[in-house]
Amino acid sequence: MNRLLLMTGSIACAKASGLISEWVKQGDQVKVVCTPGTLNFVGLATLEGLSGQTVMTQVYEAGAMMDHIHVSRWADQIVLCPATANAINKLAAGIADDAVSTVWVAAHSLGKPMVLVPAMNAMMWQYPATQAAVQKLQTWGVKMMPPVAGDLACGEQGEGRLPEVADIIQFMETLQ
Ligand SMILES: Cc1cc2nc3c(=O)[nH]c(=O)nc-3n(C[C@H](O)[C@H](O)[C@H](O)COP(=O)(O)O)c2cc1C
Repeated sequence: MNRLLLMTGSIACAKASGLISEWVKQGDQVKVVCTPGTLNFVGLATLEGLSGQTVMTQVYEAGAMMDHIHVSRWADQIVLCPATANAINKLAAGIADDAVSTVWVAAHSLGKPMVLVPAMNAMMWQYPATQAAVQKLQTWGVKMMPPVAGDLACGEQGEGRLPEVADIIQFMETLQ
């Protein structure tokens, strides 16, 4: 299976990187596309090292200008994990101003499974625009694995934690 992992700038990036090693271990190909913000939380060396593939971090890359189309066609499944409030709201508005949002907007009409796995502070999750954006994306056929309640990285408690890697993997299997 060709897995396209889109990542955005959340404290849960390190945890989400576990998806790459698990999928590679089970024989899948994994390509990672990430926002510049992601690289504040996990290094390019980790993402490239785990996936064994070049990581796409920007749209205008010499020699790879059409990769946003190529990776969309290459993928069997596309998952945005962790999905930030920023990214979710941009996608619902059709904004494509970085590699992740450009790939997402380009891929949507291909009809492949597209999954959001949000992770954020509970207040960001409850923000009306975030909730409305998630609902809008779901009406367009996007699948969402909701964040779980518990201890958040900011020291607070609430709904916003990234689900466990094993649970995300299992959820993705149900979409085949
Ligand atoms: C320490 C730290 C942790 C953050 N964690 C999250 C998070 O889990 N979820 C989220 O939506 N934003 C989080 N943010 C804020 C995002 O990084 C910020 O909104 C950024 O603009 C997201 O950009 P991107 O979506 O292009 O990656 C965090 C910021 C910092 C400084």
